[in-house]
Amino acid sequence: MGSLPSDAPGSAPSPKAPSPKAPSPKASSPKASSPKASSPNAASPNAAGHASSLWTPDGPDLLIAGDNLAVLRALPDESVQLVYLDPPFNTGRTQRRATTRSVRDPDGAHLGFSGESYSRTIEALTSYDDTFADYWAFLAPRLIEARRVLRDDGTLYLHLDWREAHYAKVALDALFGRDCFLNELIWAYDYGAKSRRRWPTKHDTILVYVKNPETYWFDSEAVDREPYMAPGLVTAEKAARGKLPTDVWWHTIVPTSGPEKTGYPTQKPLGVLRRIIQASSRPGDWVLDPFAGSGTTAAAARGLERRSISIDAHPDALRIASARLDLPVTPFAG
Ligand SMILES: C[S@@+](CC[C@H](N)C(=O)[O-])C[C@H]1O[C@@H](n2cnc3c(N)ncnc32)[C@H](O)[C@@H]1O
Repeated sequence: MGSLPSDAPGSAPSPKAPSPKAPSPKASSPKASSPKASSPNAASPNAAGHASSLWTPDGPDLLIAGDNLAVLRALPDESVQLVYLDPPFNTGRTQRRATTRSVRDPDGAHLGFSGESYSRTIEALTSYDDTFADYWAFLAPRLIEARRVLRDDGTLYLHLDWREAHYAKVALDALFGRDCFLNELIWAYDYGAKSRRRWPTKHDTILVYVKNPETYWFDSEAVDREPYMAPGLVTAEKAARGKLPTDVWWHTIVPTSGPEKTGYPTQKPLGVLRRIIQASSRPGDWVLDPFAGSGTTAAAARGLERRSISIDAHPDALRIASARLDLPVTPFAG
């Protein structure tokens, strides 16, 4: 895939592992670190010269209309605790134009005309899929900015589907450093038509990266628990409390009727966002969603007493999110 493209005007960190910071005594935990005030440099121009009249640490929740790359660049370094990104999936046509090369391989699966077997190798991953290359040219600079605005103990969640998740893992390893990879969450659901030509694809992947593997905040005690699959095998007390979710989350999609439904086509369930926010932020923290859509992240954040910045470029998304959150739309003047 090569390196991540960066079109940030000299402001973005290079797409590689962050330089190690002075190690802190131990990773943040609910006991190790208390709810905090906002970043000390948040209201002033940061090292990259991002003046923030747009957002201030003590200001109100924001719903911003604009291209998220430009808006992200206007936010100060280390200003938010949590970034959740749910970009449009790369569902465009996939050009199956893998460049293959045949090499001799006694164990290969393909029989050549001379009676020798060959195995096919993909010569160049980048030539596999033009749509993929375009998609990452779009997403990579936004991920670079998202990492920049994260606090030192902050966490990034990137929500994708099976088409991009594996490329994204490699890309985020390059951007954050492999030691900053925390989890690959699988959100499994069971809804809609099922293919009979392959295993029906009924999951999304959420990749989780922390900015600093020494100091990141993670509070498993705060997370909504789920029922045991076999409650008869645990004590009544445990069964009543429920179990801690693993990295596989069975959760229904947003019900087609019901109070949660906004009508926005790609709306994600509040329950999924609640868990993310509960685990990786504290009350009073700032949560950022650059692909806000119907405003699910901000709605979940508000319910958990976090503050939120939502960005979207689409008028329908802004209209729905504004009504849902009872927030005015702030145009981004750039
Ligand atoms: C998958 S949807 C997000 C859905 C959202 N998580 C929800 O629960 O409603 C992706 C959103 O990203 C927005 N978007 C795409 N490109 C954008 C850009 N460059 N700047 C801002 N918003 C963008 C789209 O308008 C769309 O609303």
